[in-house]
Amino acid sequence: MSATGLDRSSLLVALGGGVVGDLAGFAAAVYYRGIPYIQIPTTIVSQVDSSVGGKTGVNAAGGKNLIGSFHQPRLVIADTDTLRSLPEREFNEGFAEAIKHAAIRDPSMLDALDDLPALIARNVAIKAAIVAEDEFETKGLRALLNFGHTIGHGIEAAAGYGKFLHGEAISLGLRAACRLSVEKSGLPEQEAARVCTALDTYRLPSKLDASIETEAIFSALKKDKKFAAGGIRFVLLHRLGDAFVSDAVTEADIRRAIEGLR
Ligand SMILES: NC(=O)c1ccc[n+]([C@@H]2O[C@H](COP(=O)([O-])OP(=O)(O)OC[C@H]3O[C@@H](n4cnc5c(N)ncnc54)[C@H](O)[C@@H]3O)[C@@H](O)[C@H]2O)c1
Ligand SMILES: [Zn+2]
Repeated sequence: MSATGLDRSSLLVALGGGVVGDLAGFAAAVYYRGIPYIQIPTTIVSQVDSSVGGKTGVNAAGGKNLIGSFHQPRLVIADTDTLRSLPEREFNEGFAEAIKHAAIRDPSMLDALDDLPALIARNVAIKAAIVAEDEFETKGLRALLNFGHTIGHGIEAAAGYGKFLHGEAISLGLRAACRLSVEKSGLPEQEAARVCTALDTYRLPSKLDASIETEAIFSALKKDKKFAAGGIRFVLLHRLGDAFVSDAVTEADIRRAIEGLR
C-alpha cells in the first residue's frame, strides 16, 4: 500500500470473498492507524456474513483470527449477480451461515433460502441488528452469532486449514450444537431436524471422518477465544429463533457431541 502511494486520505476497496474482505479491512484498520474502506463482497459467505459487522483480521500459527481489529466499512455493496461465477462448493458452503442466522433469529428463513436477493437482505438485517446492539461483543448478544462455531472452529483447525471450507466445518458444528440443544435446553427434535434438512439441501457435511480425532478437535477448540477462562460459554437454542449463551455445557458434553457426528 505504501509502495503504491496510498496515504491517510486514501480509501481501500475490498472486492472479493471473505478472505479479501477480512484482510483488506485489517489493512485499512492499521494503515496510518486507520483509513476508510468499503466492502464489495462476491461470495455468499461474505455477502450474508463477513462484510457486515466490522470484524477484520488474519489467521496466525497460534490460532484463527488471532490478529485483528474492529473496523467498520463505510459502505457494503452486495451484488448478487457476482455470485453466478462461484464454484458449486463455494456457493453451497455460504448457506451454513445463512442457516445459522435462521436458527438463532428467524426460522421462517429456512423455507425461503432460494430467493437470493431477499435472502442476502434478511441475513444482513439480522447480522446488522445484532452488531448494532453489541458492536464489540461485550454484551453477550453478538456471541449468539457464534452458534455452531465452537465445535465448527475446532473441526476446521484440527482438520488443517484447507480440508474443509469454513461453512462445511460450521455445518458439522451446527449439527452438533443442535444435538446439544436437544439434550441440554429442550430444543424439539423436529426443530433440530429442520436445521439438518436445510444443511442437507446444500449438501453440507453431516459426517466427521475418523481421521480427524475427537481429542485433536477438543484441544483445538480449547484454544479458541470463545472458550473463556473458567468456564465454557456455549451457544444453544431453546427453540429455533431463541438462542442463548449457556454455561451448562461440559467438556464431556462437547466430546459426546463430536462423537455423535461420526
Ligand atoms: N469478518 C467476519 O465477521 C467473518 C465472518 C465469517 C467468515 N469470515 C471469514 O471469511 C473467510 C471465508 O470467506 P469466503 O467463503 O468468501 O472465502 P474466500 O474469500 O476464500 O472465497 C472463496 C473462493 O471463491 C473465489 N471467489 C470469490 N468471489 C468469487 C466469484 N464471484 N466468482 C468466482 N469465484 C469467486 C475466491 O477467489 C476463493 O477462491 C474466512 O477466512 C472466514 O474466517 C469472516
Ligand atoms: Zn462463520
